[in-house]
Amino acid sequence: MKPLKVAVVGLNFGGEFPEIYRCHPDVGEVVLCEADGERLKNYSTVFGYTECYQSYDDLLKSDVDAIHITTGIPNHHELTVKALRAGKHCACTVPMATTLEDLCDIIRVQKETGKKYMMMETTIYTFQTLYVKKLLEQGEFGRIQYLRGIHFQDMESWPDYWMGLPPMHYATHAVSPLLYLSQSIPATVCCHGSGQMRAELTKQYGNPYPVETACVTFHDRPFVADITRSLFEVAHEYVEGFTVLGSRGSFEWNIENEQPIVSRFEDGREITGLFYDRGRDIRTERVQCPDVRDEYLPESIRRFTDSCTVLDPKNPHKSITQGGSHHGSHPYMVHEFVRSIVEDRKPEVDAVTAAYWTSVGICAHLSAMAGGKVMEIPDFANL
Ligand SMILES: NC(=O)c1ccc[n+]([C@@H]2O[C@H](COP(=O)([O-])OP(=O)(O)OC[C@H]3O[C@@H](n4cnc5c(N)ncnc54)[C@H](O)[C@@H]3O)[C@@H](O)[C@H]2O)c1
Repeated sequence: MKPLKVAVVGLNFGGEFPEIYRCHPDVGEVVLCEADGERLKNYSTVFGYTECYQSYDDLLKSDVDAIHITTGIPNHHELTVKALRAGKHCACTVPMATTLEDLCDIIRVQKETGKKYMMMETTIYTFQTLYVKKLLEQGEFGRIQYLRGIHFQDMESWPDYWMGLPPMHYATHAVSPLLYLSQSIPATVCCHGSGQMRAELTKQYGNPYPVETACVTFHDRPFVADITRSLFEVAHEYVEGFTVLGSRGSFEWNIENEQPIVSRFEDGREITGLFYDRGRDIRTERVQCPDVRDEYLPESIRRFTDSCTVLDPKNPHKSITQGGSHHGSHPYMVHEFVRSIVEDRKPEVDAVTAAYWTSVGICAHLSAMAGGKVMEIPDFANL
């Protein structure tokens, strides 16, 4: 197969990705698309890109094989569908879309066109998630008993489309690691809105809640997951953390810049018969989640787990400074998307998987607006 020609669309947060594609061994050419002419010119000049488009429709007429969309939330659905219909493989940043209809539409168009679709979810490729995945596979935690995902972030003064966004419309960072690690499919969600927002923030989306908190059940799983999300008027530092409580061991990560905690029973065993003492001793330790890039990534993109592409060092994108550029995840997403095309297989976060992960948040907000009504998650696998 000839090396791929890939386009990155939207160069703010998206400015992180062209250099990773450029260094990937299966990619031959990288082109840029950015509606803001000045941003496009600055980026292409600083990093030396020659094929550049200000118009997305012009990009679609070009000979690129694949498109990675990193534009603002409101046009993810529209740009994704256009890319697939133009015969391009398509990766899109989160969220996949913000309505159930649009999720279903993307699944249908992906099936019709046969092109790859991947949602570029950062949280499943962080140092923390990859570490827990390994421990779960090794049976270190025993049976999963409970999951919790949190994402607190203050979006004051971010671009207009964020203002008053229902917290659960951008919930994938709190949801995805839990569903990925437990390999579960959500069945129902019940959610409550919490707190009060100042009136101006309620106008754009009719959402009155600064915080939403949900309980999710799964098909064929004995545990539930709690998801809590805030976007405005909450004094908590930025964090995209998660908790896995197991019958033998547990993992908790609630503070962005602190090492997570792993807890285990001191005697390391599960109880199989009668137990005569009062409780068991627990050993807790702070853990450094290792960088396992040598195991998974081609040599030429490994350095991107701990280095970022910054257009303006005096004013780097918040995603570069908050969350340490998403804890090493960016080159994993690029590698998975590219390899899914080269190997002609489904990407790890294909359209159906992405729809399940995104729909938890969409249904959670619908539930919150209906006073906590239990909502069923659609059967995306059998559309
Ligand atoms: N951890 C993560 O996965 C993560 C982190 C940050 C942002 N994001 C997602 O990335 C997206 C972008 O975030 P951001 O902060 O850079 O947003 P932004 O709104 O600041 O920037 C979006 C860029 O896309 C460009 N653009 C918009 N429509 C376009 C079009 N039709 N054609 C070409 N260019 C277009 C804009 O000019 C702008 O430069 C958001 O949707 C957000 O959800 C994900």
